[in-house]
Amino acid sequence: MTKDVIEAILERRSTRRFKNEQVPRATIGRIIDAARWAPSAGNVQPWEFYVIYNEKKKYELASAAANQRFIGEAPVVIVVCTVPEMAAARYRERGRNLYVIQDTAAAVQNILLAAEGYGLGTCWVGSFDETIVMEAMDIPRGKIPVAIVPVGYAAETNESPARRPVDEIVRIIE
Ligand SMILES: Cc1cc2nc3c(=O)[nH]c(=O)nc-3n(C[C@H](O)[C@H](O)[C@H](O)COP(=O)(O)O)c2cc1C
Repeated sequence: MTKDVIEAILERRSTRRFKNEQVPRATIGRIIDAARWAPSAGNVQPWEFYVIYNEKKKYELASAAANQRFIGEAPVVIVVCTVPEMAAARYRERGRNLYVIQDTAAAVQNILLAAEGYGLGTCWVGSFDETIVMEAMDIPRGKIPVAIVPVGYAAETNESPARRPVDEIVRIIE
């Protein structure tokens, strides 16, 4: 049983403590498939996903991410990369600077929500040294890591951090 999409959106919380329990590879496959089905400008899909099970590599990622140790403690870590030149070839500067960020952000969100749907916790990690991650994962020039997403069964239940009120963020124009 998976969650309804609205439940997944509302119930998803960042997870920073994981159980020492493996995630079936088929489930990771489905999560990557959800990422693949994210929208992208012109359907260019300027992304690649590194799926890391290797213990040593996970801790290298944690150390590249200001020692956020929970990255190493997750059973699986997905590194989402963008390939800016794919979008630039079609959309020039707007593709290179804006669409690739939006496209990969949509893919990351699909990963978080799909994982939630399968009962897994995740955290979108953006604080890391790009160069160190590229070296550790052998990511060639031209591909840029934009997010690190540890995935695993949550070993914590987190309160919902407050959201800004609707009337502060919505402007209705009639
Ligand atoms: C672009 C981006 C970067 C983030 N980077 C980190 C990070 O480096 N470490 C971390 O623990 N959480 C990180 N987060 C998670 C946020 O802290 C979290 O989403 C926010 O506090 C709201 O909590 P929630 O996800 O439980 O709703 C990041 C989230 C986003 C969208």
